[in-house]
Amino acid sequence: MTLPWNTTSLDDLCQRIWTELGVAVGEVGNPWRCPVLSTVSAAGADARIVVLRSVDSAACELTAHSDLRASKVEQLRADDRSVWVFYDPSARVQVRARCRMTVHDSDARAMEAWHRTPSVNRMNYLQRLPPGEVIPTPSVGWENRAEARPEFGLLLARVEMLDALWLKETGHFRARFTWVAAVGGARWQGEWVAP
Ligand SMILES: Cc1cc2nc3c(=O)[nH]c(=O)nc-3n(C[C@H](O)[C@H](O)[C@H](O)COP(=O)(O)O)c2cc1C
Repeated sequence: MTLPWNTTSLDDLCQRIWTELGVAVGEVGNPWRCPVLSTVSAAGADARIVVLRSVDSAACELTAHSDLRASKVEQLRADDRSVWVFYDPSARVQVRARCRMTVHDSDARAMEAWHRTPSVNRMNYLQRLPPGEVIPTPSVGWENRAEARPEFGLLLARVEMLDALWLKETGHFRARFTWVAAVGGARWQGEWVAP
């Protein structure tokens, strides 16, 4: 049974968030499947949409894929802090996940993700030009170079904090969850906060 958003149990709410994240991975069209991933750049904050590729609630992990030459990869290698923002307009629930990121380019995790990537999506990582390169006309920007090594990177986020906001006509609910060390193992510690 799906736990309701309308709950006063912090544990149920945290569980619901992870359940919804896991569901979103497998549902094209699910708004949580395309979160905003924000990073820290030398110029300040940066942000863009990515596709949520996997969720591991036990390990508190989210993943996305990127061309290794993209700005976000350089930014994450310099500063591993990120925030992922999810919003479901029908449920009117926003979740912000504060994370530490690692970029995997050629290790076993990256290879496993590459092998699971359908061939139609592999094209994204087999482009001749790096993302952001200045070009004279848009038509030259999409040029496959299938013979080359893919510029494929797995972006792995370890979630450290979750902030959930549910917009409700009778009064908004907001909760914050922090991953804390505890006797018997680390766990999510929740608290209600004013919206
Ligand atoms: C719906 C949608 C999904 C996207 N998914 C991804 C993705 O999974 N990975 C990715 O690197 N870029 C994805 N993009 C493109 C990014 O938003 C961004 O334009 C690109 O990655 C370059 O960003 P950067 O220069 O900040 O690295 C997506 C864009 C849209 C609109």
